[in-house]
Amino acid sequence: MSRSPLKVFLVCGARPNFMKVAPVIKEMRRYPSAFSPFLVHTGQHYDYRMSEIFFRDLELGKPDFFLGVGSGSHAQQTAKIMAGFEKVCLKEKPGLVIVVGDVNSTLACSLVAAKLLIPVAHIEAGLRSFDRTMPEEINRIVTDSLSGFLFTTCKEADTNLRKEGIDGEKIYFTGNVMIDTLKLFVKKALRLNTLKEFNLKKQDYALLTLHRPSNVDGRESFESILKALKKISKSIPILFPVHPRTKKQIKLFNLQGYFPAKGGIRLTKPLGYLDFLNLTANAKFVLTDSGGIQEETTFLGVPCLTLRKNTERPVTVTEGTNTLVGDNTLMIFREADKIIGGRYKKGSIPQLWDGKASQRIVKILKTRTT
Ligand code: UD1
Repeated sequence: MSRSPLKVFLVCGARPNFMKVAPVIKEMRRYPSAFSPFLVHTGQHYDYRMSEIFFRDLELGKPDFFLGVGSGSHAQQTAKIMAGFEKVCLKEKPGLVIVVGDVNSTLACSLVAAKLLIPVAHIEAGLRSFDRTMPEEINRIVTDSLSGFLFTTCKEADTNLRKEGIDGEKIYFTGNVMIDTLKLFVKKALRLNTLKEFNLKKQDYALLTLHRPSNVDGRESFESILKALKKISKSIPILFPVHPRTKKQIKLFNLQGYFPAKGGIRLTKPLGYLDFLNLTANAKFVLTDSGGIQEETTFLGVPCLTLRKNTERPVTVTEGTNTLVGDNTLMIFREADKIIGGRYKKGSIPQLWDGKASQRIVKILKTRTT
């Protein structure tokens, strides 16, 4: 007797989630007799440029369920997501909930599912910065402890999970789904006229992202970074797509003076996936405090200076092109100078970052759940 397909909810909510769910839902749709996948968007991010543009760029279609939770304090946002997600789960009764990454939507939806006894699969499990002042670290630890399937991007993540006492049978080293998306879209991205639009030349600019509360919510660290950027921008132009949180903080601290109209740091709105990928691939180097960009630059072989003291993605430092520079003005400038002077290290691509992670994940879920 044939069974009906397993109803699967794939959760996304914030900008770094969309490129992680995209390849998994596409792969699941290839097996309609095994899976009936639904995309649930919590609405944690809601600006067109933080959310909808990614659905367009990644050819994701519209979400099946939209919770529209918006911003708030951590407790408020998490609570709103939980209440909204519980309602949909009670009505729709999914047989599996897939969460990705480490944002508040990841935590909230895994908590709801676990309490309703719905199995949870976490993609990008086991990453640890060992810094509990980062909200994402709390989200990672809790989500992993609730998940029945833990799909990891690197061997270090497997070790972290085992050290926390998680049963090895639940851990699967499957590779990096974000690299699946990158490989799928990089040709399309490189055909765009992004460089022309920003009047930039290949290998002749740096790309910057900055939004972590630890960097932009305190004036001291924010200014320490800006001082380094100002100095770097005398040698090479810096393009800076500004996150909404950062935009607010620039205003609050009155830091507009760092960005004069004809200066070396050029501000722009947050960009879509394809334009940003084009700019990353063509950059001389990237400065960032994001998680995923550390991985994308490693895959592309583009030097990356991470404006943080730690990383949950150490493989990008040990094997890839990444260096941690914190918010230290001197260190940021020194490493940038090495890159500009051609004295920076070369990296290699970590194991299983080959574009096939979602195939491996779906294959495992197929044998274990259906
Ligand atoms: C969230 C994630 C972070 C991820 C980042 C990528 C958590 C805990 N953090 O941080 O891991 O790196 O997304 O962007 O989940 N805002 C808008 N429009 C939007 C979204 C946010 O204006 O579409 C503003 C709001 O004022 C909001 C602030 O940005 O209060 C921060 O948004 P929030 O979702 O709380 O966290 P992020 O800083 O974006």
